Amino acid sequence: MAIENLEHQAEIQKRRTFAIISHPDAGKTTLTEKFLLYGGAIRSAGSVKSRRSQKYAVSDWMEIEKQRGISVTSSVLQFNYNGCCINILDTPGHQDFSEDTYRTLVAADSAVMVIDAAKGVEEQTKKLFKVCKMRGIPIFTFINKMDAHGKDPFDLLEELENVLGIRSYPMDFPIGSGKDFKGVYNRRKMQIELFDDNNHGESIAQAIKGDPSDEKFSSLLGSSLHEKLLEDIELLDTAGDAFDLEQILAGELTPVFFGSALTNFGVEPFLEAFLEITTSPQPRQSNLGPINPTAPYFSGFIFKIQANMNPAHRDRIAFLRICSGKFEKGMLVNHIQKGKKVKLAQPQQFLAQDRVTVETAYAGDIIGLHDPGIFNIGDTLCSDAINLRYEGIPQFAPEHFMRVSTLNALKRKQFIKGITQLAEEGSVQVFKPHFSGTEELIIGVVGVLQFEVLEYRLKNEYGVDIKTQMLPYHFIRWIEMENFDYSSFKLTSDTLLAETEDGDPVLLCQYEWSIKQLAERNSQAIFRETHLKA
Ligand code: G4P
Repeated sequence: MAIENLEHQAEIQKRRTFAIISHPDAGKTTLTEKFLLYGGAIRSAGSVKSRRSQKYAVSDWMEIEKQRGISVTSSVLQFNYNGCCINILDTPGHQDFSEDTYRTLVAADSAVMVIDAAKGVEEQTKKLFKVCKMRGIPIFTFINKMDAHGKDPFDLLEELENVLGIRSYPMDFPIGSGKDFKGVYNRRKMQIELFDDNNHGESIAQAIKGDPSDEKFSSLLGSSLHEKLLEDIELLDTAGDAFDLEQILAGELTPVFFGSALTNFGVEPFLEAFLEITTSPQPRQSNLGPINPTAPYFSGFIFKIQANMNPAHRDRIAFLRICSGKFEKGMLVNHIQKGKKVKLAQPQQFLAQDRVTVETAYAGDIIGLHDPGIFNIGDTLCSDAINLRYEGIPQFAPEHFMRVSTLNALKRKQFIKGITQLAEEGSVQVFKPHFSGTEELIIGVVGVLQFEVLEYRLKNEYGVDIKTQMLPYHFIRWIEMENFDYSSFKLTSDTLLAETEDGDPVLLCQYEWSIKQLAERNSQAIFRETHLKA
């Protein structure tokens, strides 16, 4: 037993579970693929094309969903590197950007933020960063596309601070840029690392390494680039923030790396340093206090539910983040929210591009569970005799709203059933206009694709045709206020007061500046950007 316990602990210590966040086209897919290349999970880069399904239009996307049955392979990937067992969580971007993207961040222990050197901090990165910041997880920055023309590295560091409000510590610094990008100065190892791309990034880039003062670099780089590098190193050492591990782990200081995922320049120094600095799974908050990952029992929570778009297979996959102990195939667990025992018979794990049945898994891992409709977002599962409940997953702010009703009044029951199901899966949020007395509902989503998915699924799975009307609102706030009274709450002209399914008040606004005005007019109310369901 004691030896087995030591084995558990060693397995958990090896785990690194992180999400990659970025604005579309910054290079997230390319970088992920290079991680797999360096981890030996794929032999040559360019083979993870299925992940590109992110870029298809909605009709293609649904067709693909149908053909593949279910698109889970791109949701989480596991591979080994340098003695670590790595779980990468995909955060969908492009058209399928949705609330799932935010929820995935709740399952991660750290985040890698990919930034395009030419574009700097972009919109979607800002939104995802905000969620990481709220969770206080470590955030590592990879400034990509240094092989193309980009902004000045010092300006990019300043932008992180000005736009995201996070201080940075460059772990390495680029040597040249654009077509003169040669490699990086690795500050941790205090060495120059020059890369060679003779294979267009298909295989691992070889590096020439050495002390920056070494004469050979003067001829390899040319004296002006070499001298500039020596000046940059001095400037960084005298002017920049100091390396502070505690602040990094608290998400207050971001270690920054420069490179080019396409050519593999800087990928290896990034992986090495990132895996060394970032944490193995940390304790998670529950109603019994923080639960240690090395606790001797299995526990975890559901953070994502993926429906099967193929009408022939109505089942769903629920993604579970294991928070403590060891999972074994076929184990009987307590489903806390449902108050019943469930046998986890067909768990799945995702290795590089393949889906396999998992026999054992440990805290930090993500497994996919076959879901006949018994799991909801935020549900806790734990070992048979254990009774704990993990902190819920908040609802994140939808940015698009639509008024929806059924075209055929006789189908009202199926309409409600379908909407309820989709809300439980977490793809849409449902609100009721306060006062209206009509049977219309307001649907809120993070990404507009979800509206099309809603319409498609209501028709195909529930036989319901709907009438829709886009609403002009883009901002939501959940209102917390003692003795809330709809009639005395003071609104602005661009605002709609609505209710959640539980009858709690929410505000939908067209313009962000109205929120400030509303806060001034209703000073006793607290306006929340996320909402934890009771
Ligand atoms: P994403 O997942 O963040 O959306 O980005 P993705 O990796 O798909 O990359 C977006 C585009 O940027 C791709 O070009 C990719 O080749 C390119 N790219 C990624 N990393 C680098 C880099 O380090 N340097 C340069 N110069 N380009 C990079 P594309 O033309 O859209 O696709 P493809 O035809 O190359 O597949």
